[in-house]
Amino acid sequence: MKAFLLLAACLAAGAARAAEPMLEFRISGSSIAAAPLSVLKKALPARDVTLSAAEFWPGRVKHYRAFALRDVLDYAFGRRWLSSDYSDVAFVALDGYAAVGPLDKASEDGGWLAFKDLDVKSGWEAIGSHQADPAPFFLVWTGEDQTTSQQYPWPWQVAALNLVRFEDQYPKTVPRGAAQDSPARRGYALFKGRCFRCHSVNGEGGKIGPDLNEPMSVTAYRSKRMVKEFIRNPSKYRHTYMPDHRDLSDRDLEDLWRYFHWLDGHRGPGR
Ligand code: HEC
Repeated sequence: MKAFLLLAACLAAGAARAAEPMLEFRISGSSIAAAPLSVLKKALPARDVTLSAAEFWPGRVKHYRAFALRDVLDYAFGRRWLSSDYSDVAFVALDGYAAVGPLDKASEDGGWLAFKDLDVKSGWEAIGSHQADPAPFFLVWTGEDQTTSQQYPWPWQVAALNLVRFEDQYPKTVPRGAAQDSPARRGYALFKGRCFRCHSVNGEGGKIGPDLNEPMSVTAYRSKRMVKEFIRNPSKYRHTYMPDHRDLSDRDLEDLWRYFHWLDGHRGPGR
């Protein structure tokens, strides 16, 4: 009887735990640990944060209860995330989609991993053009200039944090052999920060937009003028999920073109 009660209690606890939000921690794609929200709450200070996420809720402010991103990274990875072995943290969503942010941005003030929306009685206010539910975790930034256009990731439905060296995790995106400050390298840096969350190249990256190098490079079937125009101002051409990038300079657009062009010229194993 005792054993039965114990078993029943364990099962009940298991079921409660299963319903609780979980955050998993990975290094280079391998899972190292996972923590339910209640454990995170015991381990880390939580704060109420106020932010203006102008691109999601124009003219409004939002309130969340959140952990500082730096505290979560310390908790998950100890000092390892500050070592030069890693360059980025990938925020992996419930559906497997990953938004990648450089660790130097993650170490700044202003990054918060929200676990509760304080503006509604229960649940979360929906976000984005697809009206997604941000649960279980939503990465927000309180700094005025910590926006997606400044290459700060704002992923929602975050289920795992994956500490990576970008070039090892996504080797086919790297313009290997291009000189450090070449246009292709600069274009690559821009692509990582602003495009990669939606676009892949050579099959690596986001799945919201098309792959820009496979099976055919965008530089092979569209003119340079057209590609640059489209990147800066897609809403002029289509009702599309791709945001305008009006702040990109001519040089930025040239660099992106040169990066895509470089990828087109370096296919196969000898890249
Ligand atoms: C929020 C997601 C998102 C982001 C961020 C994004 N794109 Fe897109 N992009 C799309 C989608 C979706 C399409 C498909 C356009 C359509 O038909 O609506 C697209 C289309 C394109 C195309 C046209 C491809 C073709 O053959 O028609 C290019 C070029 C492009 N994107 C480049 C970029 C670059 C460069 C960046 C970064 C500066 C970027 N995109 C950022 C979602 C995104």
